Amino acid sequence: MLIDSHCHLNFNAFDSDRDEVLARARAAGVVAIINPAVNLEDSRQVVALAEQIPELYAAVGFHPNDAAGFSAAALSELRELAAHPKVVAIGEIGLDYYWDEAPRPVQQKVFEQQLALARQVGKPVIIHQREAAADTMAILRRWAADGPQTGLTLHSFSGDLPMAEEAVDLGFYIGVTGPVTFKKADDLRAVVSAVPLDRLLVETDAPFLSPHPFRGKRNEPARVRLVAEKVAELHGLPLETAARRLVENTTALFRITVGSGIGD
Ligand code: NI
Repeated sequence: MLIDSHCHLNFNAFDSDRDEVLARARAAGVVAIINPAVNLEDSRQVVALAEQIPELYAAVGFHPNDAAGFSAAALSELRELAAHPKVVAIGEIGLDYYWDEAPRPVQQKVFEQQLALARQVGKPVIIHQREAAADTMAILRRWAADGPQTGLTLHSFSGDLPMAEEAVDLGFYIGVTGPVTFKKADDLRAVVSAVPLDRLLVETDAPFLSPHPFRGKRNEPARVRLVAEKVAELHGLPLETAARRLVENTTALFRITVGSGIGD
């Protein structure tokens, strides 16, 4: 059994064959998929899709690339959406200084407002950061010190070992995606090896970040298995043992229940 803890199944890359993609995921043992959102329209869409697909769970929020579209009205609609039973997190939120689609102070303000929302509604958080590690950690450090933890994962972790160690100390999870299987990713593999298995999640970020040997092709949730296999190998465990732990981590963070076999 596996969970894809981050997949954009609602994206139109899947419009022509979403049922087949889901069938392949089920055949690969994927029992749940977490679908984060990137803006308000996307949040509505993800919630609607999660209502139709039993194993699909939604997160709602504004990606930093969409931060310029954030508003007080959007925040209040996110708060309403967050009350939906299939909404398990606020995300994906954070900072992206690679694309710099919105001014950095705007990204930071939108990020902090959504962290506050997560605490208000008592939901965990899915973090996106790209080339903004120092500012992201500064904001998260403040957030963690400021009140009760609601759970958090650093999606598609790309930082260094000290950052991973601080994240683990703060009680966060580290999300591992397809790049861990890439030839030149020895640094990332060293980080994933050093993080305790009980702090790791596996994810696809589909349709992006296809693992080896599908690099560059459209990704899909069935391929979370290739990521889990690499994590198992790095931790010197059989896939089944590692997968069980990874599923437990994910169900604990997002407070979901999946099919039989968990914890037995
Ligand atoms: Ni994503």
